[in-house]
Amino acid sequence: EHQEKESLYIVLKFATEYFQDILKNHPEGKSIGYSYLRERGFSDAIIQKFELGYSTEAWDGLLKAATEKGYSIDLLEKAGLIILKEEKKYDRFRGRVIFPIHHPSGKPIAFGARMLGSDKKQPKYLNSPETPVYHKSNVLYGMHLAKRPIRQQDNCYLVEGYTDVISLHLCGIENVVASSGTSLTVEQIRLIGRYSKHITVLYDGDPAGLRASLRGIDLILEGGLQARVVVFPDGEDPDSYSRKLGATAFAAYLQQEATDFVVFKTQLLLKEAGKDPLRRTEVAREVVSSIALLQDPMAQAVYIKECSQLLNIDEPVLTAELQKVTRRKA
Ligand code: CTP
Ligand code: MN
Ligand code: MN
Ligand code: MN
Ligand code: MN
Repeated sequence: EHQEKESLYIVLKFATEYFQDILKNHPEGKSIGYSYLRERGFSDAIIQKFELGYSTEAWDGLLKAATEKGYSIDLLEKAGLIILKEEKKYDRFRGRVIFPIHHPSGKPIAFGARMLGSDKKQPKYLNSPETPVYHKSNVLYGMHLAKRPIRQQDNCYLVEGYTDVISLHLCGIENVVASSGTSLTVEQIRLIGRYSKHITVLYDGDPAGLRASLRGIDLILEGGLQARVVVFPDGEDPDSYSRKLGATAFAAYLQQEATDFVVFKTQLLLKEAGKDPLRRTEVAREVVSSIALLQDPMAQAVYIKECSQLLNIDEPVLTAELQKVTRRKA
């Protein structure tokens, strides 16, 4: 099994270099893939840093190159690179820009592949399947580059997408990883927690992003880490918004807008509840349920106070609710 993993790492490295070579040297890669990335504002240096590549429209581009090098069909299939269906075998990724996904050590273990343009019939991103070396729920995109910066800044920016990570790097912000569109997992939080106990969530500025932020926050608190949130205008994500503001103004925006989870959650839910007293009570309950996830009683007390001011509800009422929730969990 160890042997098999080693072989997978080797073929995944080969594929990464193959896709990079196609992007730089193949006519289709240069005219379509490379110009797409340049149009998105990605420099040669950043393309190199993230080892971005391109897969041609051909059904057997990688298949041919890899089998010529002696890699077996079986290994290519196990690596998630080719698909075997009935008598046919063909490349999984075709006509797409390739974002290698790395193990924290820097080894490529999977790929995200973006289509060019916006053909509504296809998924925008295709990703590698689960393999012996790739367990999606344990992986954060960009972690191999972010480990040291997260530790140094004592904070980790958490974004949704591949291009968000890359654009933050273009702004000089390297303490950033992506959950890659799926909901955050306990394993991912634990991984971040090795480097810092502070996470700032930068999800897309749409209703889905806000919902995901709320879910993410509770998971972060349960994991014993601290959560802050930055909200973006509707329709913007960190990639698009950093481009709009420029690096300096974007960095300032992150600094100024970072909001503690209690304030974020309370304000968001209050906006939805309006003046309806019953719905405001529900908001209080909901926020207290997040505060109950904190492991430090002192922090709980501080947040109850804050929450009391935001909601205009007396502290003892909230404290009683907190105790009720805590007893229910015990
Ligand atoms: N994603 C995915 N499959 C999809 C759509 C999204 O795996 N069909 C994941 C990708 O990791 C993507 C992330 O979810 O980066 C966020 O999705 P989205 O916001 O739609 O994409 P962006 O990252 O903003 O990509 P782009 O800017 O290229 O449109
Ligand atoms: Mn395993
Ligand atoms: Mn989105
Ligand atoms: Mn997005
Ligand atoms: Mn985007």
